[in-house]
Amino acid sequence: MSSIIKNGLIVTASDTYKGDIYIEDGIIKEIGIDLQRQCDEVIDAKGKYVIPGGVDVHTHLNLDVGIAVANDDFYTGTVAAACGGTTCIVDHMGFGPKGCNLHHQVNVYHGYADDKAVIDYSFHGVVQHVDDRILKEMSEIVNDEGIPSFKIYLTYDYKVSDEEALKILMRLKELGGITTVHPENNDSINYFRRLFVEQGKTSPIYHPMSRPVECEAEAISRMINLASLAGNAPLYIVHLSNELGLKYIKIAQDSGQKVYVETCPQYLFLDEEKYKEPNNEGLKYIMSPPLRKKDNQAALWKGIKDGNIHVVATDHCPFAFNKDKQMGKDDFTKCPNGVPGIEERIPLMFSEGVMKSKISINRFVDVCCTSPAKMFGLYPKKGAIQVGSDADIVLIDPNKDVILTRDILHENVDYTAYEGMKLKGYPVLTMVRGKVIVKNNHFIGEKGYGKFIKRQKRNY
Ligand code: URP
Ligand code: ZN
Ligand code: ZN
Repeated sequence: MSSIIKNGLIVTASDTYKGDIYIEDGIIKEIGIDLQRQCDEVIDAKGKYVIPGGVDVHTHLNLDVGIAVANDDFYTGTVAAACGGTTCIVDHMGFGPKGCNLHHQVNVYHGYADDKAVIDYSFHGVVQHVDDRILKEMSEIVNDEGIPSFKIYLTYDYKVSDEEALKILMRLKELGGITTVHPENNDSINYFRRLFVEQGKTSPIYHPMSRPVECEAEAISRMINLASLAGNAPLYIVHLSNELGLKYIKIAQDSGQKVYVETCPQYLFLDEEKYKEPNNEGLKYIMSPPLRKKDNQAALWKGIKDGNIHVVATDHCPFAFNKDKQMGKDDFTKCPNGVPGIEERIPLMFSEGVMKSKISINRFVDVCCTSPAKMFGLYPKKGAIQVGSDADIVLIDPNKDVILTRDILHENVDYTAYEGMKLKGYPVLTMVRGKVIVKNNHFIGEKGYGKFIKRQKRNY
């Protein structure tokens, strides 16, 4: 199977240029001006941007949080991803049974994803306790399973202690992997949650009030210092939501620490006022960390522009507003945490980031496609338009006007957090390994086409 994408404007993390892309057997074989090749399919990209497929390194498909299961599985979630211009995901595995080994969740997640995903995928490991056996087993997950990144949580049921976090940082540094962390100060949060519930303060606005920016920033600074104690171990902060945390991060980065940072569209486009929406609609936005005061957004955009924030991922975690989220209608602490976004990320970042001149189109490609692929050992197979890379390619029509509503999306959930937003520009074609799987917002791919990617270790 061969194809050629002609007349488009190719955009990479560093360059923008006119050119044609010749693809054979799923791989980019040649890039040049006015290529003349016999092939099975010719795609006219005139007037379109041609970008590497989006890489979303923070999703939660099939996530079981005990009281509910996230509504997208590896089929519906990856169909939605593809329709939104994402061609590869790295999913954060949920917790397994207490005391389970590291292979347990890897096997469970292969069961969820293999034969279902429509785009390529990998998983981040999850560490929920530490002992000698777990530390030894890490080597097998990194080297044999091709999973060189793990997430730890400083809050929730299986949070790790500081001693455990330190041991994980040291061990992953030794193995050439990376520790990713959900940083929030568990004790302070629990104190505020209990206090508010005792006082009858149970509406959605008490969710952000019980997890103020200091809770996140404190845990970020703690992890940064533990990473330093671990001999400058690489550290990746997931879902950064606020300016104070970013200040601590900059201090560490300026002193030469290997601290890498991700933020998400919800923190760039939505703010704390959402929790006050009538009819308890604030439940839609219960996620952790929570939405913040609006002035944090400018700091996050500056962080993206200046390079202190490396990745924009989604933390896609869809719970139905009319069902799952209603568990929190009388008490915000009972509401499953998370917000959908796997399909909205590329359209939002393009329309609101690039078209409104907040970031350049190259920086957009970098934070949404290239840098996440580099960060997690997928590059240059993914995240690149270059000879030898997988032909994972997305065409964006900058002249397409779209009103973002639940009805045009493919996520298996009954709301979008961005309902009614007017977007300028939208993905119109998604190709994975040379096969067009989405055309004009219609999925035309196949269940199970996605492949598990064994990731490489990278030099942090
Ligand atoms: O509220 C969120 N973010 N839910 C998903 C799990 C996590 O913490 O990333
Ligand atoms: Zn998290
Ligand atoms: Zn998450």
